[in-house]
Amino acid sequence: GTVNGSSSPAVAEQSTDNIKHHDKTVQSQWIHNETLSLTIRKHILKFLDAEKDISVLKGTLKPGDIIHYVFDRDSTMNVSQNLYALLPRTSPLKGKHYRTCAIVGNSGILLNSGCGKEIDTHSFVIRCNLAPVQEYIHDVGTKTDLVTMNPSVIQRAFEDLVNDTWREKLLQRLHSLNGSILWIPAFMAKGGKERVEWVNELILKHRINVRTAYPSLRLLHAVRGYWLTNKVYIKRPTTGLLMYTLATRFCNQIYLYGFWPFPQGPDQNPVKYHYYDSLKYGYMSQASPHTMPLEFKALKLLHHQGALKLTVGPCN
Ligand code: CDP
Repeated sequence: GTVNGSSSPAVAEQSTDNIKHHDKTVQSQWIHNETLSLTIRKHILKFLDAEKDISVLKGTLKPGDIIHYVFDRDSTMNVSQNLYALLPRTSPLKGKHYRTCAIVGNSGILLNSGCGKEIDTHSFVIRCNLAPVQEYIHDVGTKTDLVTMNPSVIQRAFEDLVNDTWREKLLQRLHSLNGSILWIPAFMAKGGKERVEWVNELILKHRINVRTAYPSLRLLHAVRGYWLTNKVYIKRPTTGLLMYTLATRFCNQIYLYGFWPFPQGPDQNPVKYHYYDSLKYGYMSQASPHTMPLEFKALKLLHHQGALKLTVGPCN
């Protein structure tokens, strides 16, 4: 089941016999280390506060304001009327605390995991990049409290809305979010401008029931700063690592699923890069700004220390 055992999140974890085949380096039991979790939360709070930094608020920007992209400092964008209209007035996580949270990464390791039920039992479920769930319920569940959307998703998964079919597909996905938080890093890299605008327009025009959030400019630097200080030399944090870092603020226990940045599974079987599409591993090669295996190593250590639980095999 997990890196070192599998069970439902509610119960203290028991080992299972087949674990040794998954990972030789593991202990037999996973126990939540509450002290360590609290220490990590405190350390991260020195760099960022997820409650504040999860989104820019209405009070801090106005239409027409100019924003420099985080990764393309020379390029700018203007805050549009639509973007302004969708900025939250107060943090969507204000005063929130959850007993257990699931962060669902997009690795193909989820296929045939049967983890859907377990994932859906968590108090707060975070998903990445509008990954589809309906067709994969058994393995990934459906509960979604927050879902991220890199602007590039509109290109990759929705064909840049070239025709009504794709537009309708995106609309349906957005409608299915049903009140959850849609987290759009709109200020990171140039090139996403139109895509973010299309989505903003759709949400307003169709009165889609989502709570939009647009992370602040400093969030990425702050997250990177925290990990660098801890000797995890990432270039640019992935969505998954960003979500873990944010989740420490409002989740007592954090469970990770779908984190496996390797083409072979713990059992040496091939693993798809994404559980739902045909994107290849080359995507995160040398040229990529991500350093996923490095992140994974750090997360795995935290798993062994009991700060989070990483599941990389079948759930019970
Ligand atoms: O936005 P990004 O390209 O980072 O993410 P994604 O491909 O949509 O996947 C969401 C997250 O799942 C990533 O940010 C990683 O943290 C994690 N992931 C992984 O650990 N292994 C994979 N093979 C794919 C994704």
